[in-house]
Amino acid sequence: MLICFFLDTLGKGCAFVAVLLVVFQWTSEAAGPLERKAAAVGTSVLLSAPDNIKDINFIQWEYQNGTTWYFIVQYYVGSQKPTLYPPYENRVVFYSLNGSLLLENLQETDSRVYKASINLIESEARTTLLKVLRPVSQPQIWSSSSLAGSPIELFCNVPGGTVENIDWEKEGGPLPQERCYLLSENDSVLHIGKGGKSDCGSYSCNVSNEISWQESLLNLTIVDISPPLELALKMSAIAVVFALVSGMGFFVLCCQSEKKRIKGENWRWMIIFIQVLVCVSSILLFAATVLWMHEEGPSAAFIVLEILLVYVIIVTVLISATLVYQPAKLSGFKTKPWQRVILDSAAPGAVILVVLFASLLLQKISQLQDRGCSQTVDLTGYAVISAVISLFGLITLFIWYHRSQRDQRENKRHSKEEADQEVQQELREDMLQRP
Ligand SMILES: *[C@@H]1O[C@H](CO)[C@@H](O)[C@H](O)[C@H]1NC(C)=O
Ligand SMILES: *[C@@H]1O[C@H](CO)[C@@H](O)[C@H](O)[C@H]1NC(C)=O
Ligand SMILES: *[C@@H]1O[C@H](CO)[C@@H](O)[C@H](O)[C@H]1NC(C)=O
Ligand SMILES: *[C@@H]1O[C@H](CO)[C@@H](O)[C@H](O)[C@H]1NC(C)=O
Repeated sequence: MLICFFLDTLGKGCAFVAVLLVVFQWTSEAAGPLERKAAAVGTSVLLSAPDNIKDINFIQWEYQNGTTWYFIVQYYVGSQKPTLYPPYENRVVFYSLNGSLLLENLQETDSRVYKASINLIESEARTTLLKVLRPVSQPQIWSSSSLAGSPIELFCNVPGGTVENIDWEKEGGPLPQERCYLLSENDSVLHIGKGGKSDCGSYSCNVSNEISWQESLLNLTIVDISPPLELALKMSAIAVVFALVSGMGFFVLCCQSEKKRIKGENWRWMIIFIQVLVCVSSILLFAATVLWMHEEGPSAAFIVLEILLVYVIIVTVLISATLVYQPAKLSGFKTKPWQRVILDSAAPGAVILVVLFASLLLQKISQLQDRGCSQTVDLTGYAVISAVISLFGLITLFIWYHRSQRDQRENKRHSKEEADQEVQQELREDMLQRP
């Protein structure tokens, strides 16, 4: 433990000494003040020589590579032309009048320290640190998610250029203090945490270096509920409407006076229609519950509901299939009283079950709907369309029933009239035959 501490201190000490050495070396070698310049790749930059020396005899330009200095230009005043050294000989223009050096067609590898000295006076030399940068390109900004309650990260990706700085802003100002935003090490990822209403808005990332900057904007809309929950919401709404309409159907069938009770073919198709409606609404609620549990986790109440719904679906499919293909056999299933109870109560029970639980689900999902800032799902259209479809079926069946009732009555009247006529005819024949 102690040794570790010792070594650690020793390590830090060494690092400190190294830094001191570097600083010392720097100050000893670069005599004058260090100027800084930045330029873009492919452009040119003009470097200036010292301008405080009167009698100029000799001008010399050097560059530093590692710890060594290499010549670029040497010029004796009065000589024909300057001596240029590789590798810069073809990329520089030397102005002998004022000693300036124009560096052309800059590359990133030209980022280094340049030094101009006059008459070899080291203390008056002028050093310039040149930084050659690629201009930043337009950043791409996107979010990992936009769902309320889920962790949200914004990414700022810069396809090209030398990125030195990334600044994030919200609504054109600094990021709000009250919200705990986290930035990744190089600032390219903004962690928002669990998304909520207050996180909606426009975010921008400003990518820059010394010579250029680019900015991109993202309008973040926090979505209240995930697409599966939205689907579950719509399914529950349709299930409620179908269940209510089939409940209406049952009510009408039950509350008829004994004289007008629907019988025969009409009764059969009415029951088939209602059973199918109950079956469809049960399937919809079943699917909606599965989606809900997939998103929000399972719960015992909903699992029991699923089992009951499977039972309802099987019974309603059985009854409607039997009524469609072999109506006579239905009474065969109902020989014992308990069978009759099970088969007859399945659909009305399911209506109550579906209405209750679909309303519960609707309420639960709606509660989640004010977490974000997206538009709430409008269910009116779905409710109206499903109501129109199911009521249309029910009303069509009733109209058909009343038509057939009227036909029957007329048939009866006709046959009665015919019978009367026959009787009268017989009477007449009877009278004629009598003497
Ligand atoms: C700088 O030094 C490295 C090796 O230390 C060498 O590979 C490179 O070519 C040198 N660059 C220039 C411009 O002299
Ligand atoms: C030196 O001379 C050149 C060419 O005449 C000019 O472009 C440049 O700006 C001058 N440099 C200084 C530091 O004045
Ligand atoms: C982006 O950042 C650069 C450098 O910090 C700054 O000059 C520029 O004004 C910023 N742009 C915007 C739109 O804030
Ligand atoms: C963000 O929304 C504003 C208005 O709210 C609009 O002017 C801007 O164009 C939108 N930006 C994007 C990238 O969609």
